Amino acid sequence: MTTSPNPALRRIRADVQSMHAYAVQDARGLLKLDAMENPYGLPPGLQAELGARLGALALNRYPGDRGNDLKRALAAHAQVPAGFELMLGNGSDELISLLAMACDLPGATIVAPVPGFVMYAMSAQLQGLRFVGVPLTADFELDEPAMLAAIAQDKPAILYLAYPNNPTANLWDEAVVDRLIAAQGAQGGLVVIDEAYQPFAGKSCIGKIARHGHVLLMRTLSKFGLAGVRLGYMVGPASLIAEIDKVRPPYNISVLNCECALFALEHAQVFEAQAAEIRAGRARILTALSGMPGVRHWPSDANMVLVRVPDATKTFEGMKARGVLVKNVSKMHPLLANCLRLTVGTADENAQMLAALEASL
Ligand SMILES: Cc1ncc(COP(=O)(O)O)c(C=O)c1O
Repeated sequence: MTTSPNPALRRIRADVQSMHAYAVQDARGLLKLDAMENPYGLPPGLQAELGARLGALALNRYPGDRGNDLKRALAAHAQVPAGFELMLGNGSDELISLLAMACDLPGATIVAPVPGFVMYAMSAQLQGLRFVGVPLTADFELDEPAMLAAIAQDKPAILYLAYPNNPTANLWDEAVVDRLIAAQGAQGGLVVIDEAYQPFAGKSCIGKIARHGHVLLMRTLSKFGLAGVRLGYMVGPASLIAEIDKVRPPYNISVLNCECALFALEHAQVFEAQAAEIRAGRARILTALSGMPGVRHWPSDANMVLVRVPDATKTFEGMKARGVLVKNVSKMHPLLANCLRLTVGTADENAQMLAALEASL
């Protein structure tokens, strides 16, 4: 076998070759509390029912009209205002990539607060758009003057606002959001409000799409309980959605994704009960953290909690050695120095996670 580099690599973009791939941690043998997954699986009765339904699908056919049934079910589930359209993505990740592709005019820029969800910057980089990350304040609020300055100066094609934000888990001041939406509208850009964590948040911005022609709302079924299924959706004015939908690969939602999502929506109360458990678990985690010397934590409106410890590497490794995998976000951004992101699990998992944290400080 030759050890010389494959000459065909010259055909791969140099910037891609110098990038790091999206990091997925190896969780084998560990309690997986690193990716904001719902810890509950489908109840066994529903597993059998879903299995029968998936087995009967026409897997030999390309996805067809069932996607429209799913759009209608999602519109009802999310209480999408009448007259607004919805497009489906293979997870919100795909929608984020498609948005960059659709807005890839020369010089186009994407602006988002940082630290934030990494795919906003990555989609810009991969598509050749400019990305401008505007640092949050030290207490993880939007820096309104800096955001307004970026909108005025960079005239972004897209402003992303994750509501709640990842990894800081907080919602933004709604009055600030409104002013950013107005500024972005005045310069003719889009605002994408990413509500991936909506099942755990007390608030939503869905009402804003009806008031503005330039606001899109993105959601996913991942945190709801179907991270493995890959189903994200984006809601907005029909005129905008129709254009962005043109860059979508024609069969991006498999018949399996589609039927799983429809099935889950028919049993939405099961997932809502799980979300309620997760919200209750989050409250218990926050209370426990309040009594843990050396650990600073922030309020959460998501199924994750951000903490700061004296030495993130030591605590992360100590937790891992005790069988608990969380996310060490301390190198993601200077504002996250010594921060770990904890995903809320079941009551037992949370207890194990808190014990491992305390023992690893
Ligand atoms: C803010 C935010 N948006 C979108 C996503 C991606 O969701 P999906 O699984 O639908 O691709 C995540 C995943 O962690 C996220 O944190």
